Amino acid sequence: MTNQGKKVDVKELLSNITLKEKIGQLLQLTPMFLQEKAVGEITGPMGDLGIDSEDIKNCGSILGIGGAEEVMEIQKNYLENSKHKIPLLFMADVIHGYRTIFPIPLALGCSWDEEIVEETSRVAAREASAGGVHVTFSPMVDLVRDARWGRVMESTGEDPYLNSIFAKAAVRGYQGDDLSKDGNIAACVKHFAAYGAPEGGREYNTVDISERMLREYYLPAYKAAIEEGCKMLMTSFNTVNSVPSSGNEWLMREVLRNEWSYDGVVISDWAAIKELIPHGVAEDEREAAEKAMKAGVDIEMMTGCYPQWLEKLIEEGKISIELIDQAVFRILKLKEELGLFADPYKGLSKDREASLNLCEEHRNIARKAAAASMVLLKNDGSILPFSKETGKVAVIGPYADEQSILGWWSWQGKAEDAVSLKQGIINKIGSEKVVAAKGCDIIDSDDDKIVQAVELAKTADVIVLALGEAADMSGEGASRAFIKLSGKQEQLADEILKLNKPTAIVLFNGRPIEITELYGKAPAVLEAWFPGTEGGNAAADILFGDKNPTGRLSMSFPYTVGQVPVYYNEFNTGRPKIDDSNTERYVSHYSDIPNAPLLPFGYGLSYTTFKYENFMISDDTLTEDSSIAASVMIKNTGSVDGEEIVQLYIRDISGSVVRPVKELKGYKKIYLKAGEERQVSFEIREDMLRFYNSKMELKSEKGKFNVMVGPNSKELMTLEFKLI
Ligand code: BGC
Repeated sequence: MTNQGKKVDVKELLSNITLKEKIGQLLQLTPMFLQEKAVGEITGPMGDLGIDSEDIKNCGSILGIGGAEEVMEIQKNYLENSKHKIPLLFMADVIHGYRTIFPIPLALGCSWDEEIVEETSRVAAREASAGGVHVTFSPMVDLVRDARWGRVMESTGEDPYLNSIFAKAAVRGYQGDDLSKDGNIAACVKHFAAYGAPEGGREYNTVDISERMLREYYLPAYKAAIEEGCKMLMTSFNTVNSVPSSGNEWLMREVLRNEWSYDGVVISDWAAIKELIPHGVAEDEREAAEKAMKAGVDIEMMTGCYPQWLEKLIEEGKISIELIDQAVFRILKLKEELGLFADPYKGLSKDREASLNLCEEHRNIARKAAAASMVLLKNDGSILPFSKETGKVAVIGPYADEQSILGWWSWQGKAEDAVSLKQGIINKIGSEKVVAAKGCDIIDSDDDKIVQAVELAKTADVIVLALGEAADMSGEGASRAFIKLSGKQEQLADEILKLNKPTAIVLFNGRPIEITELYGKAPAVLEAWFPGTEGGNAAADILFGDKNPTGRLSMSFPYTVGQVPVYYNEFNTGRPKIDDSNTERYVSHYSDIPNAPLLPFGYGLSYTTFKYENFMISDDTLTEDSSIAASVMIKNTGSVDGEEIVQLYIRDISGSVVRPVKELKGYKKIYLKAGEERQVSFEIREDMLRFYNSKMELKSEKGKFNVMVGPNSKELMTLEFKLI
């Protein structure tokens, strides 16, 4: 039977294939298993997986490959040996761009701009599709509160509302309106669930949170992605209520499939089914396979528990054939929806790859996204923006002329395609006026380099100090106990700042870092994150005033690592420390540092200033059927045009369970010319006040609420209303 060129009846196909072939669909391998030489030689990693050449022949999907030529060859060879001509699915981690690299997701989160997230996902899908990718392991929507965890760079931040908006935008961007069209790929939301809450911020560590916490903070963004039609979901490595996700029937069947009616594919994370053994919930691979299949994990990534044991488990009556059929049906249906039966080489094109990857349009989008993601953290005396007519500019620091600014998870991106900060500044003001020196390395270096850099900086009129973390200091497997700048970077900064010249620090990093001392000393700080291919140009756009910064932090910057996890939507406690001037002993506080983070969620400066006035609500009572309009007058009181992100927070003063001190419930990005003012209005409805009560019911409760509006989660104006 050949399916090529036509639509396939998935149910009929399912009834025609053998059990062994079905189980093959549930296995995902890396491409090396299918590259010609490997087939038949069961050695090395294949031996470890316990799979044989028949399993490899039947395997349903491949991960971690891109490139038209290579993918085409693997698909062709595979189909030649395949009885039913069921095409392979190719999946990969296209996290923040494919060849054109966009800012890391944490940076994109700081744009507070869903259109940018949708657009960058769209471009990533277009490039990836030409390179043969059908499914991206993105968006990663794990809520993050602990900057020690290296994977905070992959999330859009600490807020469930914002994360949900971005989750939806990414799914729309990747999948488009019709998955079968070239350029559209399936999204895989991950890591279900609560992978972002490992104890102590230590990678792969235990997660132990209450069901209410899970439902209220951690689950909403996964649910949002699914509501937007996300086709795949990846399990997480961690436990949820003491059961690892990949074997967690409550999470995967009850919540995901029954409550949320999710009918898409579930894939395990890398080796997560076999890891049920070291977790201590399965004695061997047989039990691991049984638990994962019962929990509803359809695809096993890179271990061989399913191919080795599912057949036997069926024979023994431990697993029903219906469970297998349901899983295979979902996978075949996705292949059909992607249009792969009609064209197994869908989207693949060397020409399209050449014309799309890093094309001007994509680079322009990358530049716009990077500028929108950068956050101006400090600008004393308005030293920024620098004038383009300024004299000499010294760019100093390990990131002065560094092209490795793409960040982790950019495997198809190449540093050589990226614009360094120095190059971006040269592109802006010409090479004659720009000098650069490293001063020190990220990890370590000798003091001579610092001396030389300081000498060079003395000759300049303005200084840009480019510091940060190396890309591999964040991402998977990169937790840090200390989150300060490493090596001699602070020493370099001290020496440079002693020159008392107009100096702006530009930071390249994958997590909020501890910059408290530096922040106190430096006149200006711009958080650039890992900004991607166009990073240097985007930073220069901001440093020289062609772009007025609009980024706002989507994750708090801790005062010090000892305060972590620190986040804005916390509970009050019975002994709250209302403000940092309070010196009482018996209130919830640290005796040596403030409670508040250095920089709060939602914070970020502009080159202009905005005044908030006349905050009003249309009514001070709300019912289930009515709504209240909360409005505020915003005036651009500075001398340049700019955009402000007006933020709305709500607090439930008293509930049947404790409620956070504030929760983001809305925001609006508005553009105001210098001197212009405009009223911004938000609608407050009863459904915005719902929370999970002790019975895990999502309900609002009558009583008093605060509504707050302001430029960030700290500087807020407050009014009160009642839900009756
Ligand atoms: C990561 C996932 C990723 C997968 C495939 C795992 O180690 O946790 O986020 O999608 O590898 O590369």
